[in-house]
Amino acid sequence: AQPQATVLVNDAQAHQTISRYIYGMFSEHLGRDIYDGIWVGKNSSIPNKDGIRLDVVEALKRIHVPVMRWPGGCFADEYHWKDGVGDPAQRPKTINTNWGGVTETNAFGTHEFLEFCRLVGCDPYIAGNVGSGTVQEMSEWVEYLNSNQESSITEWRKRNGQDSAWKVPFWGVGNESWGCGGNMTPEYYADLYRRYASFCKNYPGAPLKKIASGPNGHDLHWMEVLLQDIPHWMMWGISLHYYTVPTGNWSHKGSATDFGEDQYFSTLKRGLYMDQILNDQEALMNRYDPQKRLALVVDEWGVWTDVEPGTNPAFLYQQNSLRDALLAAATLNIFNQHCDRVRMANLAQTVNVLQSVILTHGPQMVLTPTYWVFDLYQVHQDARLVPLQLQTPSYVFGDDSLPAINASASVDSTGAMHISLVNIDPHHAIPVKMEFSGSDGWKFAGGQLLTSARVNDCNTFERPDLIRPTSFSDVRQSGNVWTVQMPAKSVVVLTLKK
Ligand code: AHR
Repeated sequence: AQPQATVLVNDAQAHQTISRYIYGMFSEHLGRDIYDGIWVGKNSSIPNKDGIRLDVVEALKRIHVPVMRWPGGCFADEYHWKDGVGDPAQRPKTINTNWGGVTETNAFGTHEFLEFCRLVGCDPYIAGNVGSGTVQEMSEWVEYLNSNQESSITEWRKRNGQDSAWKVPFWGVGNESWGCGGNMTPEYYADLYRRYASFCKNYPGAPLKKIASGPNGHDLHWMEVLLQDIPHWMMWGISLHYYTVPTGNWSHKGSATDFGEDQYFSTLKRGLYMDQILNDQEALMNRYDPQKRLALVVDEWGVWTDVEPGTNPAFLYQQNSLRDALLAAATLNIFNQHCDRVRMANLAQTVNVLQSVILTHGPQMVLTPTYWVFDLYQVHQDARLVPLQLQTPSYVFGDDSLPAINASASVDSTGAMHISLVNIDPHHAIPVKMEFSGSDGWKFAGGQLLTSARVNDCNTFERPDLIRPTSFSDVRQSGNVWTVQMPAKSVVVLTLKK
């Protein structure tokens, strides 16, 4: 008999909310993410609002990006915010030492970023400079952003064109402090966190959700020291970064498009390891914070390949294939399943850098396969997680194997259920038999499919629409038992209504 997957849908147990912030993004002053990708300047012939390109804004609005992290990344710990406010002609030019040593004009600064967030309709998440900035500098940035009291700092903001405080809700205290953010020990960082965070004040109506610079992937020691050494009331959450490098070798990461099944398999295997990382980090957090007050914030994740041939290696410009979309969909399923602890995640990065949702070339814009995953999955934002019991055949490659099917489900505020299914097996369609334990009476109300002929396929400036969602209805219903025929290498999102 053909192997099939079975899913028991516990629709009566939908208690936990999937925070919309799991569907967040990250934009750094790196390569062409900000400059070209988001900011083209007021005099550009590319349609823009005060310098911010409108095609990108519209695309991000359509997928309801809920939060944007900025200005880095490594850039955050050498960024001095005062360089990026006031008359653009007077702003100092600095060197972006992390990303190619290029000149940073500071044309895109605090006001421009917050205007971008306003246009997109997302909340800002700013990462402050611990590595090379002072406590006073960070403290004054928070005042500039969030205070409506009369002070020299807030008067300066008003003179720069912003009367009332923006009330930025999310605040990162440094970035990768174990690495580019200062190469610190966790004990030293924990002490610095306590000091810096003490002076990031909560102004009236603007309580800050402060996020500590957490571990590199599976580094449990870093996490444990932070949990022991920082009073929990001082943090809203702890961040975690994990990138999927196809070969596992940072010197030869693997091509974004030119790969065989060996690298397809290893990319999925390394990416799905996110589940193990979260299980282990959460087990540690549960020991120190059993009430789950602290959030785990996966504020950098995604596939990191070699750059596109002929592009600046420091700009991290890579194409984006169906493989990357399958991994994004599987990863978002993992985050949904961990929503009791994972309350924010930020894909790295938004435009033209790493696993972007958007690529630009002059006035042209391409929406990547990963973009379409975020489009399909937006139905889970702030919906209630429906627990699933899943049994799946394996996707076998050589003498190794992975679970072929992964899934997550939620019920939204209108009572509709959405089930997102991924089949990572590139060769075999797999029937998925679903049963509902809570209630019957669900009716099929539509489906969307994302797939392509090859896992290497991508959307290019010549063929921007090769990979797009299409409607899907290969669903058979017999009483309370449904069978969904999942095509090979595909993502399907189903809508069910009563
Ligand atoms: O996203 C690119 C870089 O990866 C970020 O700047 C840094 O935080 C991480 O190492």
